[in-house]
Amino acid sequence: MIELRHVYKRFGDLIVLDGVDFEVRQGETVALLGPSGVGKSVLLKHINGLIHPDSGEVWVDGQDVVHLKQRPLARLRSRIGYVFQAGALFDSLSVADNIRLGITDEDCAGDEEYCRNRVALCLDLVNLPPETADKFPSELSGGMRKRVGIARAIAGQPTYLLWDEPTSGLDPVNADIIDSLVEKLDDELGVTSVVVTHDVRGAFRVADRIALLRDGRIRAMGTPSELRASTDPAVQQFLERDLTIPVTH
Ligand SMILES: Nc1ncnc2c1ncn2[C@@H]1O[C@H](COP(=O)(O)OP(=O)(O)OP(=O)(O)O)[C@@H](O)[C@H]1O
Ligand SMILES: [Mg+2]
Repeated sequence: MIELRHVYKRFGDLIVLDGVDFEVRQGETVALLGPSGVGKSVLLKHINGLIHPDSGEVWVDGQDVVHLKQRPLARLRSRIGYVFQAGALFDSLSVADNIRLGITDEDCAGDEEYCRNRVALCLDLVNLPPETADKFPSELSGGMRKRVGIARAIAGQPTYLLWDEPTSGLDPVNADIIDSLVEKLDDELGVTSVVVTHDVRGAFRVADRIALLRDGRIRAMGTPSELRASTDPAVQQFLERDLTIPVTH
């Protein structure tokens, strides 16, 4: 379970999070929507302790992320896969080596054959051909780099996955493949996920619940049908573009 309680975060004069309460139950997939610059990535980085709140609490798996010491925090992080918005690959490492960084279990990381197989499997899951393993990030398109970032995030078989705009910059076919992957990890492996996205259609497809971040707070949170039924103009305005999509939940 992931829980943020009364989280406040400002950068200088800019108040980004202004009392965020946010909860993701075990095994659940929550889509986090909101306008650009509202603080979605900042919220996500609180969950694995990359950013600390000015005040408030962050709990993951029963652990107090803000006050965890270095080693237990590293242990917790090794169970949280993070798909960075901009990919965050190491240019000097091959694709295979970038993905291997996601294999955090020491026994697995030291096992050559396991790593080779795991890299191949993760590349396949994100719809990249096996020969991508030997390439370098600079040789790949933006969408391919994005998918390598996703392969790295899932390589360590995490129990939590934080996806920061996993489908942005992908063509519709590959966006669909990634949405299916989010669903599959959620349904078959019971991964608990937060998916930050601008893709309302994708959010309705993959999420058990959807949250809308506005003005530093979670303005609304509920199942896709609950959100669709919301009379809050801010919610309606956000969903308007895709109101014609049938609800599948
Ligand atoms: N480390 C930082 N230092 C200073 N300001 C920051 C920092 N990180 C984020 N911000 C600011 O916080 C605000 C929220 O940023 P954030 O990246 O969370 O937006 P976002 O909702 O993810 O937007 P987008 O949809 O465009 O990715 C922005 O105004 C950004 O400039
Ligand atoms: Mg962002």
